[in-house]
Amino acid sequence: MTVLDLFAGAGGAALGLHAAGFEHVACVERDPSAAATLRAAGFPAVEADVRDLDYAALAGTIDVLWASPPCQAWSSANQHEGPKGEDDVARNGWPWTLRIVRIVRPRWAIFENVRNARAYVERTVVPELRKLYTHVAVWVLNAADHGAPQSRTRLFVIAGPRSVGSPAPNVQRRTMRDAIAVPWDRPSPCVMTNEWKGRPSDPAWWRKLNNASDALALATDGARRKLTLGECATLQTFPEGYPFAGDTEARYRQVGNAVPPTLAAAVARAVRAAEEGAEAVIGALPSIAGAVERVLSAAVAGVRQRPPRGIDRDDIDGFVTRNAARLRELVRVALFPRTSG
Ligand SMILES: C[S@@+](CC[C@H](N)C(=O)[O-])C[C@H]1O[C@@H](n2cnc3c(N)ncnc32)[C@H](O)[C@@H]1O
Repeated sequence: MTVLDLFAGAGGAALGLHAAGFEHVACVERDPSAAATLRAAGFPAVEADVRDLDYAALAGTIDVLWASPPCQAWSSANQHEGPKGEDDVARNGWPWTLRIVRIVRPRWAIFENVRNARAYVERTVVPELRKLYTHVAVWVLNAADHGAPQSRTRLFVIAGPRSVGSPAPNVQRRTMRDAIAVPWDRPSPCVMTNEWKGRPSDPAWWRKLNNASDALALATDGARRKLTLGECATLQTFPEGYPFAGDTEARYRQVGNAVPPTLAAAVARAVRAAEEGAEAVIGALPSIAGAVERVLSAAVAGVRQRPPRGIDRDDIDGFVTRNAARLRELVRVALFPRTSG
């Protein structure tokens, strides 16, 4: 399936779409550093303002248009107030995005944004999409439920020719300790866009980072420090060594702005499954996953109580871990015979 990716940033969403088997026709991004990152990562970057391009030649050729329109109007810095009237063009990317959808007429349109934009989107964007598509869904998903060791809640609007089952959440969330060895047994608070330039001695800076301060306070034996760019990128589920371009500030901004690839992949797989007629399986996944997890827990408890003959008591944890991983893989292959990894 082909994708036109608008407001592509450094390619967080692009990586997720790619992992779900989608092929990019173009990633449009006006920031030169982010566009350089896209190029270095092998995506077909078009360094331009989304509003300046002529999309007529793409009409009827695109399977998925993915857009993450600018959301400053709803950011906490702007007190979530939304755009000030229809003329507030600079801060509101939705009208231009809808205009492009009307020209390109993609089979599916997927929009991603901050959760605060929901009321505006349901009032103004969804009715317009309903004129073009038979099914329009609005989801609020947390990246922590979809493979990221980070709490980051985002709004998704999915418009297309079929209904889509929203992706099933992970049975278990990944923690900061799992991802970057910071002693914090929960997903990280939301990774910020700015390179943090505060002084650790200034409490105001820590308040600005909300509850991030709690996690970071633990980062090095109780001594506060900011997370490195690599740590932020890992919490956002970028692959190790992803080629972020630009100066330090530009790279932190790209990481903080991104849709976590694992979250984008979950959304993209749900759309793909709907396209392939697998809604029934997707709908049943939470209960299947729950049942598998219950059987596993019972098996694990049994092994601990009465270790099988030939298993060294000291290696029970290793035995359980190895066999639980094998069982999960068998279930995954049975459910998704054509996927790998
Ligand atoms: C929230 S970020 C997108 C994140 C991206 N989807 C990802 O997953 O990494 C929004 C991006 O839109 C870009 N942008 C904002 N206005 C734009 C415009 N008019 N034309 C092109 N890009 C624009 C910004 O530079 C920023 O990188």
